[in-house]
Amino acid sequence: MLAKQLLFLSSLIPILQAQETVLGVYIFHRHGDRTSKNFAPASLTDLGYYQVHASGEFYRNRYIDANASSMIFGISPDLVKNSQLNVQAPVDTVLQNSAAGFLQGLYPPVGTTLGTQTLANGTHVEAPLDGFQLIPVNAIASAASGANSENSAWLQGQSGCNNAIISSNNYFFSEEYMTELNKTLNFYHSVLPVINGTFTLAQDNFKNAYLIYDLVHVSMIHNTSIPSDYLLTPETVFQLQTLADNHEYNLAYNASEPIRAIAGSTLAAQIVQQLNATITGKSSSQIGIQFGAYGSFFSFFGLAQLPAVSVNFTGIIDYASSMTFELVTNATVTNTSYPSNDQISVRFLFSNGTASEHPLTPYPLFGQSETVLPWNTFVDQMNQFAIGNQADWCAQCGNSTGVCASTTSTGSSPISTGSSSSSSGGISKAVAGVIGAMVTLAVILGAEALIMAVAGLRLVNKKRLGGRASPEPVSAVAKA
Ligand SMILES: *[C@@H]1O[C@H](CO)[C@@H](O)[C@H](O)[C@H]1NC(C)=O
Ligand SMILES: *[C@@H]1O[C@H](CO)[C@@H](O)[C@H](O)[C@H]1NC(C)=O
Ligand SMILES: *[C@@H]1O[C@H](CO)[C@@H](O)[C@H](O)[C@H]1NC(C)=O
Ligand SMILES: *[C@@H]1O[C@H](CO)[C@@H](O)[C@H](O)[C@H]1NC(C)=O
Ligand SMILES: *[C@@H]1O[C@H](CO)[C@@H](O)[C@H](O)[C@H]1NC(C)=O
Ligand SMILES: *[C@@H]1O[C@H](CO)[C@@H](O)[C@H](O)[C@H]1NC(C)=O
Ligand SMILES: *[C@@H]1O[C@H](CO)[C@@H](O)[C@H](O)[C@H]1NC(C)=O
Ligand SMILES: *[C@@H]1O[C@H](CO)[C@@H](O)[C@H](O)[C@H]1NC(C)=O
Ligand SMILES: *[C@@H]1O[C@H](CO)[C@@H](O)[C@H](O)[C@H]1NC(C)=O
Ligand SMILES: *[C@@H]1O[C@H](CO)[C@@H](O)[C@H](O)[C@H]1NC(C)=O
Ligand SMILES: *[C@@H]1O[C@H](CO)[C@@H](O)[C@H](O)[C@H]1NC(C)=O
Ligand SMILES: *[C@@H]1O[C@H](CO)[C@@H](O)[C@H](O)[C@H]1NC(C)=O
Repeated sequence: MLAKQLLFLSSLIPILQAQETVLGVYIFHRHGDRTSKNFAPASLTDLGYYQVHASGEFYRNRYIDANASSMIFGISPDLVKNSQLNVQAPVDTVLQNSAAGFLQGLYPPVGTTLGTQTLANGTHVEAPLDGFQLIPVNAIASAASGANSENSAWLQGQSGCNNAIISSNNYFFSEEYMTELNKTLNFYHSVLPVINGTFTLAQDNFKNAYLIYDLVHVSMIHNTSIPSDYLLTPETVFQLQTLADNHEYNLAYNASEPIRAIAGSTLAAQIVQQLNATITGKSSSQIGIQFGAYGSFFSFFGLAQLPAVSVNFTGIIDYASSMTFELVTNATVTNTSYPSNDQISVRFLFSNGTASEHPLTPYPLFGQSETVLPWNTFVDQMNQFAIGNQADWCAQCGNSTGVCASTTSTGSSPISTGSSSSSSGGISKAVAGVIGAMVTLAVILGAEALIMAVAGLRLVNKKRLGGRASPEPVSAVAKA
């Protein structure tokens, strides 16, 4: 009898789960395979294009196709409705192109039947390339995506956030860093014959952990021959990788200095804003997609306490990785009855690589045990560290000039880790101003990096030359 009831109950579970409706999603995505950062400008490779396209197809089959496993409520299945999508990527040849390649998988060419329009005079016009669909990718240069990020070694300078730049630079003076630098010197020198075409003996150390790993990693994928490659045993490559992981994670996040994770804070605000727009617009805009750098994933992982779930979250994620926030409900959704906020939840998922090949797995956020959190809880937790308006941004970053000049006289709250931007809804003009300023900054830094690369020059951080502490960006400097 009991067994029968259990059987009955368990047979209900799939039915109950089938009732779940996805109202919208936010996807934050890394670029696909690219050329090495050591040779700017980096560009997306065919392999990278393939990866992001396959990821787009995966998300299409999950959320968009008429037969999708979790079709988003109200989404147009074949012909893209641009009002339903909000896609952002910085202007560069890696992230911007990755977004474009992903979108081709998400909304592929529709063929001649759907891709034909009829003019007033009765003439039929077919869209080029078998009904290829044009989808705009909005150019941004936010701290989260790291404008021009693929053209410089470390991107904190491009956040434009003074306290974050100082905090990241502080890493180079931490005991952790000094110890690691000393401990690994012999190891780095042992691989010099592999990398001496690009790095000098003086540059061959932990300070350049990421650039060295990037050169080796990219070369192993693309170069048919690598000098002294007998030195690249699996153990050595693994050590180069984990040293780079350590270096980059520490630049992106430090529990005692949350401002270092500014990229994760601004991203958190953007996620809440987009998902909230889906709810308030009753699913008129259901999909937010942003392409950004691994450093922003790290910052967000740290802030959302994911390293406590698994130490894996302190390792550099693979190319074409994505994290996804699903807005879900078990309430009935029709176009005349939309669920209330307390009937809506958020599920966080992560795929460590192309999502079609690496399972999109739910993880619990914020040190909680559930992988599905009520919307209101999710918002409260995100707002513990989200930074989404200009006054907060300026106060937390300690910036008082430029776009921040007008906000300093109003007695902004002192720098704190908590309750920053609970009042953020929709991008305000003020934030648009901050973003605009960042675009300018990024363009300047991008051009600077290019000139340095071409001329073989280097920016040297004054601090490391024994000068006064300066807030100069780390940017391409790390090769010094
Ligand atoms: C959906 O599945 C049905 C039945 O399996 C199939 O006939 C149809 O072509 C599929 N549609 C799409 C858009 O894949
Ligand atoms: C119909 O209109 C289009 C666009 O104005 C024009 O190119 C085409 O020649 C017209 N066709 C006929 C049959 O008038
Ligand atoms: C914030 O201050 C730093 C250091 O003065 C400056 O480099 C950066 O451009 C400022 N950011 C903005 C957005 O004004
Ligand atoms: C993290 O911040 C604390 C406090 O500022 C500092 O003592 C520590 O060295 C920092 N660690 C790293 C890796 O930057
Ligand atoms: C590491 O530091 C110790 C003590 O400060 C020093 O004796 C040693 O030579 C250093 N090792 C390297 C490789 O620099
Ligand atoms: C790199 O090191 C190898 C082995 O020590 C040496 O044969 C080669 O000439 C060096 N290449 C450059 C560019 O210095
Ligand atoms: C791999 O090839 C690129 C392009 O030819 C070259 O710049 C790079 O130095 C090579 N990598 C190594 C480790 O030699
Ligand atoms: C961490 O990574 C290892 C190795 O890839 C894997 O076996 C393990 O399941 C991962 N843990 C989590 C929590 O994802
Ligand atoms: C992703 O994979 C890389 C190895 O390719 C690993 O170092 C990292 O820890 C993984 N991250 C997660 C969250 O599983
Ligand atoms: C919907 O119900 C199923 C089955 O009880 C549950 O697993 C799932 O988490 C629920 N989803 C939401 C958004 O509450
Ligand atoms: C509501 O949905 C029905 C079918 O599901 C559709 O025919 C109708 O146009 C929709 N109304 C609005 C206002 O979207
Ligand atoms: C969602 O947007 C509405 C309307 O703009 C706003 O009133 C509300 O505060 C926003 N909620 C959150 C959590 O941002």
